[in-house]
Amino acid sequence: MFHPQRKTMDLLPLVCLCLLTWSAGTAADHSPVVVKVEQGSYVILPCSLSTQQSITFEHFEWKKDGQKDVFFYDGGKHSNNDHKGQDEQFKCRVSHFEDQLKNGNASIKINNTKISDSGNYTCDFPDLQPRQTFYIKLVVFGAAAKPSVRVVKTDDGVQLQCEVEGVSPQPKVEWKDSAGNILPAKEPQVTERGGSYNVILQATVTKADNFTCVVTQNDINHQISAETVAAPLNESTGWIVGAVFITLIVVGVILAVLVWKGCIKLNFKKGSCQQSTL
Ligand SMILES: *[C@@H]1O[C@H](CO)[C@@H](O)[C@H](O)[C@H]1NC(C)=O
Ligand SMILES: *[C@@H]1O[C@H](CO)[C@@H](O)[C@H](O)[C@H]1NC(C)=O
Ligand SMILES: *[C@@H]1O[C@H](CO)[C@@H](O)[C@H](O)[C@H]1NC(C)=O
Ligand SMILES: *[C@@H]1O[C@H](CO)[C@@H](O)[C@H](O)[C@H]1NC(C)=O
Repeated sequence: MFHPQRKTMDLLPLVCLCLLTWSAGTAADHSPVVVKVEQGSYVILPCSLSTQQSITFEHFEWKKDGQKDVFFYDGGKHSNNDHKGQDEQFKCRVSHFEDQLKNGNASIKINNTKISDSGNYTCDFPDLQPRQTFYIKLVVFGAAAKPSVRVVKTDDGVQLQCEVEGVSPQPKVEWKDSAGNILPAKEPQVTERGGSYNVILQATVTKADNFTCVVTQNDINHQISAETVAAPLNESTGWIVGAVFITLIVVGVILAVLVWKGCIKLNFKKGSCQQSTL
């Protein structure tokens, strides 16, 4: 049932992906309609009887993942007037198309879509003979915003931290130096909730440079980055400590030579050294 163009269309920018829908399957045919949408926009989940018979006095129910009550309609009573039991997740966000009911169209609109709306939806007409059930799979994308980057000083140098929050699908996160080389990094810390991902990536740097954290979501053709400058403490403090150390040694050697030449007394008796060397 998938459109043959699917693979190529997946590579198009987000704007186009919102338009991807396929003709609905029925109870006998479980191929879902796939609707991809960007987070924060709205989506119309399609569901229409092929007979186009009026459903104004019929009964239909929308559910998510087989359990959550998304939208209920029964002969004029529905989730936005009389009917109780709509899942909290969908309160005040779902509407049907009153003027479309006479055409057998039970599509719904979900406003302000969230990543957690992703899932498997059913549009069910339990009282029709034969019963009709439609499957719609919704995928909500969340493109990453500019990551937040931090420079943290540690014992073994300077650590770069890059943090990405609330995105979907899971992004690839990398630290690069100004020459574009990928820095060796620790295993990223990935947490997932309701299909949305948070990622923290840390890398230790040993030389001063401009570093860029690059976030890539290949599936939706999205890349964004943030830059920071880091100068490892080790290097600069190392130079200072080294310089002080060498100065102390030089001073020590000079003093030792003076002592060996018997000039040490001069430190206590002013002028005597000058006399003895003369
Ligand atoms: C969804 O948003 C539209 C405006 O974009 C508004 O007309 C409609 O009433 C909203 N639906 C719900 C259920 O809030
Ligand atoms: C059902 O109604 C929606 C909202 O008006 C519309 O976008 C969709 O194309 C309609 N479906 C059919 C099969 O007419
Ligand atoms: C949706 O259905 C697919 C199979 O079509 C399954 O792999 C996936 O786990 C389901 N998702 C949820 C949230 O139930
Ligand atoms: C980092 O970039 C800034 C300009 O963005 C430049 O002035 C600076 O010299 C660069 N530093 C290093 C270490 O490359």
